[in-house]
Amino acid sequence: MKAVVLVGGEGTRMRPLTETLPKPLLPLMGRPFLHHVLDHLVAHGVHEIILSSPYLGANFASFIEERHGDPKITWITETEPLGTGGAVLNALDQVGGDPFFVLNGDILTDLNLTEMLAAHHERGSVVSISTFHVDDARAFGLVITDDGGRILEFREKPEDPIPGDVNAGTYLIDPVVVQDFPRGANTSIEREIFPVLIERGLAMTAFGSDCYWLDLGTPENYLRAHFDILEGRVGFESEVVAPFIDPTAEVDLRSQLGRWVVVGERAVVAEGAEIEDSVVLAGASVGRNAKVVGTVLGPSASVGEDARVDGCVLGEGASVPAGAVMGGEKIRRAGASG
Ligand code: GTP
Repeated sequence: MKAVVLVGGEGTRMRPLTETLPKPLLPLMGRPFLHHVLDHLVAHGVHEIILSSPYLGANFASFIEERHGDPKITWITETEPLGTGGAVLNALDQVGGDPFFVLNGDILTDLNLTEMLAAHHERGSVVSISTFHVDDARAFGLVITDDGGRILEFREKPEDPIPGDVNAGTYLIDPVVVQDFPRGANTSIEREIFPVLIERGLAMTAFGSDCYWLDLGTPENYLRAHFDILEGRVGFESEVVAPFIDPTAEVDLRSQLGRWVVVGERAVVAEGAEIEDSVVLAGASVGRNAKVVGTVLGPSASVGEDARVDGCVLGEGASVPAGAVMGGEKIRRAGASG
């Protein structure tokens, strides 16, 4: 079984973190998120993965080099952004003739892919789309089905706060049905390919599930994923003690860490510092008596002594000067463009 994992987005909502590290490689509990996605695929019998990205390709090259064994990873060239649809079409020569999975590379989920594949075959589907139910579909793509689960329509980001089943970003596709789409152009699978397949009257079905599901596309959700793991709400992830402190981090005994805190490799937390509801990535530091709340500190970022930082995102190497007060800001390394 093969899968195309979509990892080539710029992750604009996660800037400035994603200016130096692609979103799928941001650490989750100290480990690049893509490892979590690939482990999940392997657990469901997917042993070959196709990846491509026009963006920060060197970071993926290092990731692939470091990840040994299962699954086999094939990297293909994507020089210009092809969008979610174009990237899938670009991978068709690698996927073979059988149905293959397509996954968004930024979703933390324990979706049962084995059951999804079984349902795909039982229903004679050519495309299956995983869905989950929400009370307010405004931020999502609504998937309208008949009583038997056959998809009738997609409605992107409805204006009104209506409940419904929404696209959860995992697909099973029979390659035959997408062979004739022109390749090499930037195309959205949700907006430009799936609606055409519906028009053609093909058997597209929704696979509803009440699994854990979180899109790590925003800083709020990125933090939320860590908090959920710390609270043991993500049963399929390893159990950890909250707050989580990497053994190589230096945390002064006179600092105060709330329960929802992750301190990564080689990070430093000085005397009198307070941290709550935050993720401190590798090599970052929090100075004496500084206070950090609801914030992501990117790799090697620093918060100076006595500074106050609330609801911020610090990119790699960014720094907050001693005594500064920052709220809701995105902070880049001095001299970084953007
Ligand atoms: P935002 O810019 O914050 O919306 O993030 P994003 O660029 O990741 O876009 P989005 O979350 O909508 O993308 C969904 C999934 O498709 C993510 O896993 C992206 O990495 C991936 N993706 C988006 N655009 C491309 C593309 O042009 N090529 C490839 N290969 N993957 C893409």
